[in-house]
Amino acid sequence: MKKKMLAEFEKIYGDSQGAKVYFAPGRVNLIGEHIDYNGGYVLPCALTLGTYGAARKREDQKIRMASLNIENSLVELDLNQIEPGPQGDWTNYVKGVVAGIRARGFELESGLDLLFFGDLPGGAGLSSSASLEVLTGFILRDIFALDLTNVDLALIGQEAEHNYCGVNCGIMDQFAVAMGQKDQAIYLNTADLSYQYVPAKLEGYKLVLTNSKAKHSLADSAYNERRKECQMALKDLQVVMGIEELCQLDPETFETYGKAIKEEEAYLRARHAVGENARTKEAVKCLSQGRLEDFGKLLNASHKSLSEDYQVTGEIMDALAEAGQKQEGVLGSRITGGGFGGCTVSLVKDQCIPAFQENVAREYEEKTGLKADFYVVEIGGGPVVY
Ligand code: GLA
Repeated sequence: MKKKMLAEFEKIYGDSQGAKVYFAPGRVNLIGEHIDYNGGYVLPCALTLGTYGAARKREDQKIRMASLNIENSLVELDLNQIEPGPQGDWTNYVKGVVAGIRARGFELESGLDLLFFGDLPGGAGLSSSASLEVLTGFILRDIFALDLTNVDLALIGQEAEHNYCGVNCGIMDQFAVAMGQKDQAIYLNTADLSYQYVPAKLEGYKLVLTNSKAKHSLADSAYNERRKECQMALKDLQVVMGIEELCQLDPETFETYGKAIKEEEAYLRARHAVGENARTKEAVKCLSQGRLEDFGKLLNASHKSLSEDYQVTGEIMDALAEAGQKQEGVLGSRITGGGFGGCTVSLVKDQCIPAFQENVAREYEEKTGLKADFYVVEIGGGPVVY
C-alpha cells in the first residue's frame, strides 16, 4: 500500500520526495452502543481496514488535499482559512482537526500536501470519519513534532466532528481508532476515559461484519436527537436523585426511579442506556472467562434494546440481525455503530462462516432487495507510520 500511495501522490503532486505514508484503522463496536455520551462502558476494537494517508510539508501556507475515494477531489486551501465548508464536505474532517490542534496552542509552521485512501466501506458504521480525523492528527503530530498523546488525538477528532461536521458524537470511535491494539478489545469507561485491553479470545469463532448497504442519510440528525432525549431523561431523574450521567444507574435503581422521566420516548432511551451499560460490563466478564455463548446472548439482547427502546435499527437492520441470529453456529448478532443502516457484527463458528454468508445474503436480499457484503474481522492496532 505504501508504494501505491506514493505513486498516486506523485501523480497528483508531481513527485513524492520527502512524503511519508501513514495508516489509521476503522473500528467495530462489540457492545456498549449509544452510551458513550451517557458516561457508559463501551467495548470497541480497531480493524485492519482503515484509512491510508501520504503527506509532506510544504514551504508555503497552503494545504492541498485529495482523496482517492472521491473523483476530482483535489482541494487547495490557505492554512489560515479553514472555516467549515457545507455539511457533508469531506474536507471538514481535516480542517476540523487542524483547527483543534491550533486551539490547543500549536502553530503549524507551514502547509502540507495530503492524499487519502480508505479501504473501509463508507457510511457503514465502521468509523471511516473517525479514522480520517485521527489519521490527520497523527500526520500533523508526526510532521510538526507536536507534543500530543493518542488520547489527545482522539479528543481533537471528536471536537472536529462536533464543530466541523455537525455530529454531536461521543468519544468511542476516535478513542478506538487512536488506541487500538492487535487482537484486543478496548474496555473504555467513557465517564473518565479510563480503559483496559481485553483479549478477544474467540476460540473457534470469528466476528463477521455484514454491511447492509442501507442508506442512512437521516443518521446525523436522528443521532443528535437521541442525545437530546437522553439529556431530557437525565434532567427528570436529577429532580429525584443526585446523578450526573444516565449510566451511573444500575437496572434495579432505574426500576425504582425511572418513573420520574416524563416523556415516554426519553424513558425508553434511558432504559436502553442503563441496560446496555450493564450488558457491556457483563460481556467483558463473559469474554474474559471464555463464556462465548453468554457473550453472544448479550449481543442479541443489545440489538433488541437498540431496536425497541432506542429505535435506531429500522426494519432493514432488524431483518439483517434476525437473519444472522438464526443461522447455525451463530452465538449472537447485532447492529454496530450509530444505527439507521450500516453493519451488523455476528459471532460465528469458524466452519459455519461460508453457510452463514450464503444464507444471510439470500434471506436478506429476499426481504429487502439489497445485497449484503461480508467481512471477517481482524482486530488490528492503532495509527502507524510506514
Ligand atoms: C457513532 C458515534 C459514537 C457512538 C456510536 C453509538 O458511531 O460516533 O460516538 O455514540 O455512534 O454507539
